[in-house]
Amino acid sequence: MELQRSFLGLLLGFLVLSLTPLSSARFVVEKNSLRVTSPDKIKGTYDSAIGNFGIPQYGGSMAGAVLYPKENRKGCKEFSEFGISFKSTPGALPKFVLVDRGDCFFALKVWNAQKAGASAVLVADNIEEPLITMDSPEEDGSTSKYIENITIPSALIEKSFGQTLKKSISSGDMVNVNLDWREAVPHPDDRVEYELWTNSNDECGVKCDMLMEFMKDFRGAAQILEIGGYTQFTPHYITWYCPQAFTLSKQCKSQCINHGRYCAPDPEQDFSTGYEGKDVVLENLRQLCVFKVVNKTNKPWVWWDYVTDFQIRCPMKEKKYNKECAESVIKSLGLDIKKVEQCMGDPTADSENSVLKEEQDAQVGKGSRGDVTILPTLVVNNRQYRGKLEKGAVLKAICSGFEETTEPAVCLSSDVETNECLDNNGGCWQNKAANLTACKDTFRGRVCECPLVDGVQFKGDGYTTCEASGPGRCKVNNGGCWHDARDGHAFSACTDNGEVQCQCPHGFKGDGVKSCEDVDECKEKKACQCPECTCKNTWGSYDCSCSGNLLYIKDHDTCISKAASGGKSAWAAVWVILIGLAMAGGGAYLVYKYRLRSYMDSEIRAIMAQYMPLDSQAEVPNHVNDERA
Ligand SMILES: *[C@@H]1O[C@H](CO)[C@@H](O)[C@H](O)[C@H]1NC(C)=O
Ligand SMILES: *[C@@H]1O[C@H](CO)[C@@H](O)[C@H](O)[C@H]1NC(C)=O
Ligand SMILES: *[C@@H]1O[C@H](CO)[C@@H](O)[C@H](O)[C@H]1NC(C)=O
Repeated sequence: MELQRSFLGLLLGFLVLSLTPLSSARFVVEKNSLRVTSPDKIKGTYDSAIGNFGIPQYGGSMAGAVLYPKENRKGCKEFSEFGISFKSTPGALPKFVLVDRGDCFFALKVWNAQKAGASAVLVADNIEEPLITMDSPEEDGSTSKYIENITIPSALIEKSFGQTLKKSISSGDMVNVNLDWREAVPHPDDRVEYELWTNSNDECGVKCDMLMEFMKDFRGAAQILEIGGYTQFTPHYITWYCPQAFTLSKQCKSQCINHGRYCAPDPEQDFSTGYEGKDVVLENLRQLCVFKVVNKTNKPWVWWDYVTDFQIRCPMKEKKYNKECAESVIKSLGLDIKKVEQCMGDPTADSENSVLKEEQDAQVGKGSRGDVTILPTLVVNNRQYRGKLEKGAVLKAICSGFEETTEPAVCLSSDVETNECLDNNGGCWQNKAANLTACKDTFRGRVCECPLVDGVQFKGDGYTTCEASGPGRCKVNNGGCWHDARDGHAFSACTDNGEVQCQCPHGFKGDGVKSCEDVDECKEKKACQCPECTCKNTWGSYDCSCSGNLLYIKDHDTCISKAASGGKSAWAAVWVILIGLAMAGGGAYLVYKYRLRSYMDSEIRAIMAQYMPLDSQAEVPNHVNDERA
C-alpha cells in the first residue's frame, strides 16, 4: 500500500515535472474583462479569470453593483448566519458579491453567496500573483452536493484590484461593474471548432458521472451541429508516461501500454482489484480510433453514438468494460473492426503509437489555449471553456462562437433560449393589435430589434418605437397609418406611390396616422347639392339620388335627364352637347340601326359609361345602408 501510494505520488510528480518545462511560459488562464463603469476614479477594464464552475453567460454580459459584506468576508460560512442577504429588490441592479480568497474552497464561497441571493461572485486574491483558474475542489461527499447546483458565474480578480474595489466601497461609492463574456469565445465565424478532452473511465465518482451524463445529453445537439457542418469536433484523451526507471515495475505494467509510454491511473486507485489503468488507456485508444475511422468516411458524428452506446452497454460496474463488449458496439454501428484494430496497433510493442503520441503532444497548450491538465476539458475555438459541463451551458458557449445570424437553429432552441420575451415582452416595442414585436429571444439573451415582416423592415430604437419603412410597407400593418373597416368596407390611409405616406383616403379627413374621420359630404355641402338631389351620407362616401326621371352623374355631381331632353343645370347642357357631338359622329349609323326612340335611353347609358368608367361603383356602391354610427 505504502509503495503504491508513493508510486502514485511519483507518477503525478513526474507528470507535473514533465509538463512544467514546456508550459511554464504558456499556462493560460481564460481571462475575460471586468469593466468598472462607476465611480469615475476607478473606471476602466480589469482582468478576471472565470471560475471553473457555475454558468458563465457566454456571448453575453452582466451588469451589477459590487457589495463587500461587513462580516463573513471570506464567504466560508452561510451568510444567513449573519443576517446578510443579497436578494435583489425590483429595479435594483444584480448584486456582485466581493469575497476574499482563503480558508475554504472557491466553490463553497460561491455557493454561500448564491444561496444568499448574489448574482455573481468576485473573489479577491490574497497574494500578488498572476491570475489562476478557480477549479472545483476534488469531489468528496460534502462538496459534490452543491457544486452541481452552482448556477451563478464567478471570477477571480487580482489582489490589488480587490483592494481598489474595497477602498471605493468603504468610502461610500456606488461601484458598478460589467462582466463581459462576449470576447470569451474568440473569432466568431460560420464554423466553430471545439474539442473535448474526455475519458472512457466510468468509475471515478462525481466527475465521471457528470461527464457521462453530459455525453448522453449533448450527443443529439453535437450531432446536429456536426451533420450541418456548423462545427468541427475532435475528441481527445489524456495519457501520461511512466518514468523510464519504472517501466518494468508491476505498477507501470498494469497502468501503461507500449512499455510505459501511455498510462492512465488505475480506475479504483487500487492496483490489486478491478480494472487496471491499462484497460482505460486501451479503451481510450479504441475510442480515438473509432473517431479516426468514422472521420475518414466523413461521418465524425458517429463517434458520439459509439461512446454513448459503449457507456450504456459496457459499464465497469457490470464488468463489461472490455474488448468483446466494445467490438459488439462497433459491429452494431456497422463500423469496420479491422480498421479500428489497425489504427490501435500493438499495445505490447516497445514502440510509439502514432495516435496516442499525437494526443500527448496536443496536451501541451498552444497559442491562446492553456495546457490541458483537468479532465474533462472543453476547448471552443481554441479557448478553454469555463463553466458547468451541462448541455445548455455548453451549447451557449459553442453558439457564441458563431457570427450573429450564422448560428444554426439548434442555437435558438429552447435549451438555449432564455424566453425573456415572455415577461413584459422583454421591455421591447410591440404592437399587440398587429401581433408585432421587437423582442427576439436568442442565446445571447433577449434583444430589442425592430422586426422584418413580409419583407418590410421596421426601423426605430426597438424599445419604444418601430415604424415600417421602405417600399411595400403598406402591406404590413398599413404602414403604421390609420385604417378601419366597417360593414365590409375597409379603408387605409397608407398610400404607396414610390414614397409611402399616411394620407386619409378620399371621403375622410384627419392626420392619416391616428385618425381619419368620415366627411359628411351632405352637411359640408361638398356634393349632391343640385336642387333635384337628395343627399345621404355614408361612411367614407355618400349616396345621392335624383328626383323624378333624372340620373345622378357622380363624377360631375349633377342630375341629368335620362331622356337627355331637359337637363336644367349647366352640366346637363354640356352633356347634351357632348352627346349631341357623339350622335353627330356615329349618329347617322345609330339612327339608321336603331330607329326606335325607345332605344335611346339605353344608348345614352352606354355612351356615358364610356366617358365615365364608373369606378366609383366598385368601391362605393350607391345603395348600401351603412350609416355612420
Ligand atoms: C441541488 O438541486 C437538486 C435539484 O434541483 C436538489 O434536489 C438538491 O437538494 C440541491 N442540492 C443542494 C445541496 O441544495
Ligand atoms: C477529420 O476530418 C477532417 C476533414 O476530413 C479533417 O480536416 C480533420 O483533421 C480530421 N480530424 C482528425 C482528428 O483526424
Ligand atoms: C403572432 O405571431 C406569431 C409569430 O409570428 C404566431 O406564432 C402567433 O400565433 C401570432 N398570434 C396571433 C394572435 O396571431
